[in-house]
Amino acid sequence: MKILNICGARPNFMKIAPLMRAFGAHKNITPLLVHTGQHYDKNMSDLFFKQLRIPEPDINLEVGSASHAVQTAEIMRRFEPIVLEQKPDWVLGVGDVNSTIACALVATKLGVRVAHVEAGLRSFDRGMPEEINRVLTDSISDLLFVTEPSGVENLKREGVDPAKIHFVGNVMIDTLKASRAEAEKSAVLDTLGLKAGRYNVLTLHRPSNVDHPAIFGRILAAIDEIQRDLPVVFPIHPRTLANTKKLGFADKLAGMSGLKIIEPLGYLDFTKLTASAAVVLTDSGGIQEETTILGVWCLTLRENTERPVTISQGTNELVGTDTAAILSAYRKRRASKLSNRPVPDKWDGRAAERIAEILAKT
Ligand code: UD1
Repeated sequence: MKILNICGARPNFMKIAPLMRAFGAHKNITPLLVHTGQHYDKNMSDLFFKQLRIPEPDINLEVGSASHAVQTAEIMRRFEPIVLEQKPDWVLGVGDVNSTIACALVATKLGVRVAHVEAGLRSFDRGMPEEINRVLTDSISDLLFVTEPSGVENLKREGVDPAKIHFVGNVMIDTLKASRAEAEKSAVLDTLGLKAGRYNVLTLHRPSNVDHPAIFGRILAAIDEIQRDLPVVFPIHPRTLANTKKLGFADKLAGMSGLKIIEPLGYLDFTKLTASAAVVLTDSGGIQEETTILGVWCLTLRENTERPVTISQGTNELVGTDTAAILSAYRKRRASKLSNRPVPDKWDGRAAERIAEILAKT
């Protein structure tokens, strides 16, 4: 069985790594890896391939950055001849980025079956580009691999045939578990002059947060207070860095002596940094899941989350983007100890193996 596996943007790499390993080890599966080139900087792509020992992509579409329409269309244009030539049994996509929907759409129109890993997550916010990608990809997928119970409920409510839905756990947590010991050896705390438990981590990249001066400003006003309490390490996404200049926040940021803005980190350094933080403030999806397993407080700077299990069972709290709300949640978390939490069902490091078993039987 030949499977074309798609990855393109940073959060895809942690998800595709255990799948490529599980497929490679399965006697009935021949996996090929397609990198769309949606992300291309060394720190956003190559470093992840190296650290997570992902095989070199068999095919790189090298699309790069563009508007949503141009990027999606360009991936489709370049991916179609690959599917025609390779004649795979399955095209498998992970997550909710433009590469995922673009390749799923090409495959299904050529009559090739589509498998979606991390299916069923819903923020119910159609203003998020990822929500559109999720809904569309799920609606044309033949197999839907789900990370948490809410995903199963969402898909059933949307009328997806239950026979296509498989609750398998979380491939991102497969990678976290497999890399934990190696990440512990990272020297990132020494390099940045930090003490475990005595700093916070910030990540921001959602267009809804960093493209709007009023919202970005409200978040930064909270960060200004927080960095007076404990240093805040901010590995900055290229889009966010560009916007700090474009929207006139560069001087404000430079004036915060406790804020350490650094380049995006590789997976191992970032995992170590997160694992030892006091509080993580983020608008990322994956980090809500990783902090749940690492047992670190996470404040999500969004109005909604597609990953509710990280709130009901994990360490996550939705705080939105109001300055006072962020500060009040931060103070509450700083004053409280984390008790042992239950691990979400099937977040046990074996999701990719389950997916391989299911695919091999089709
Ligand atoms: C994309 C995903 C988002 C994911 C995020 C993780 C979509 C719709 N969005 O958002 O779901 O959470 O990746 O990072 O697919 N850039 C670089 N170097 C790179 C990549 C991007 O400089 O290697 C810059 C470019 O200026 C680009 C901008 O970042 O225009 C945004 O990149 P893009 O891939 O379009 O979206 P992300 O914001 O990264």
